[in-house]
Amino acid sequence: MAETLTKLAYQAFQNGKSAFSLGHRTFATQLRQWLRPELQFEMAEVDDDFLKEVTRRREALLQLDWADAEAGVYPEALLFDNPWDDFFQYYPAVVWELPQLWERILNKETQVFDANINTQGFPRYYLQNFHHQTDGYLSDASANLYDLQVELLFSGTADAMRRRVLAPIKRALGADNDRPTQRVLDVACGTGRTLKFLQGTFPELFLYGLDLSPAYLRKANQLLSQTNLPQLAQGQGEAMPYRDDYFDALTCVFLFHELPGPVRQQVIDECFRVTRPGGTFVICDSIQAIETPELEPMMANFPVLFHEPYYRDYIKDDLVTRLETAGFNGVTTQVHFVSKYWVAHKPV
Ligand SMILES: C[S@@+](CC[C@H](N)C(=O)[O-])C[C@H]1O[C@@H](n2cnc3c(N)ncnc32)[C@H](O)[C@@H]1O
Repeated sequence: MAETLTKLAYQAFQNGKSAFSLGHRTFATQLRQWLRPELQFEMAEVDDDFLKEVTRRREALLQLDWADAEAGVYPEALLFDNPWDDFFQYYPAVVWELPQLWERILNKETQVFDANINTQGFPRYYLQNFHHQTDGYLSDASANLYDLQVELLFSGTADAMRRRVLAPIKRALGADNDRPTQRVLDVACGTGRTLKFLQGTFPELFLYGLDLSPAYLRKANQLLSQTNLPQLAQGQGEAMPYRDDYFDALTCVFLFHELPGPVRQQVIDECFRVTRPGGTFVICDSIQAIETPELEPMMANFPVLFHEPYYRDYIKDDLVTRLETAGFNGVTTQVHFVSKYWVAHKPV
C-alpha cells in the first residue's frame, strides 16, 4: 500500500513538472511572438507519431527510475529531490531573462560576457553563451538559473536521466567492495545534481567534482554542503589535477555535446589516465543520430533553438571508438528517453 502511494506520488510529481514545462514553453512562445514577432526559428516538422514516440520514451525512463528506486539501487527519497527554493526564487528571473536572450539571438551574439566577468584563462571553445544563457557558465546568476532551465528543457526529466548513471556505478563498485576507500569523480559536475545523487546513494564513498566554472562550483558547494561535502575543484576535463589511476569510477553528465571533437578525445584520454585499472567510466549525454534516427527532428531543432555550437558534430561522433582509442574496453551503450549512456572499463 505504502509503495503504491509512493509510486502514485512520484507519477504525480513528474506529471506536474511536465505540465509546468509545457505551460512555460507555451507562455514563452506566445510572449516572444508578441514582443519579438520578427524572431522566427526554422524548425523541422514533427508529427503525431513523433510526439507519441517521445511520450513513450519519457514514460519508459520514469518506469525505470521508479523500478531502480523500488529495487533499492538508490533511495526512493532521491526521486523527489527537487531544488524547490531555487524554483520559487528564480523562476521569475528565467522569464525576466527571455527578452535579453531574444535580443542576443536576433543580433547573432553568442559570445557576450558582462564587462565584470573575467574570461582570462578559459579555453576559447568554452567562452560561449551556451543555450543562449546570459554570461554562459561564468556568473552566479547563470548558475542560479541553470537547473531550472534544464528541467524546463527536458520536461522535468533531467534528474531521472542523471540517475541512470547510478546503477552502472553501483555494479562497478559492488564488484570490488573489499577496497577500503573508493573514490568517484564527477567530471563537469556543474551545479552538483549528479554528485547529490551519488552522495545519497553511496554515503560511504569519497566523492570529487571537477568543473571549469567557478560560479557553478559555488552553486554545487551550496547544494552539497548539507552532508559530507565532496572535494570540488576548478579545472579542465582535458588536464585534470589528479594522480594517475586515482579513481575507482568516473561519471560525466551532459558535457560531451558542448566540446569540439578533438577536446572530446582529450577529455576521454584524461578520464582514462585518472581511472584505476579495473575502474569504470560512465558517460551520460544527448542521444545521437547513429541509433536514434526516429528522433532526428528533435536533434535538428535543438541547436536551432539553443546555442550549441558543437552539437551537430557531436551527434555523429563515435564515442565508442574514442573510448577504445583512449584504452577503455568492454564499452556498452544504452539509450533512455533523450539521453545516451556509455559504460567503459579500464583493463586490469
Ligand atoms: C551542460 S553543463 C552539465 C553540468 C552537469 N554535469 C549537469 O548534469 O547538469 C556542462 C558543464 O560542463 C562544464 N565544462 C564545460 N567544458 C568543460 C571542460 N573542458 N572541463 C571541465 N568542465 C567543463 C561547464 O562549466 C558546465 O558546468
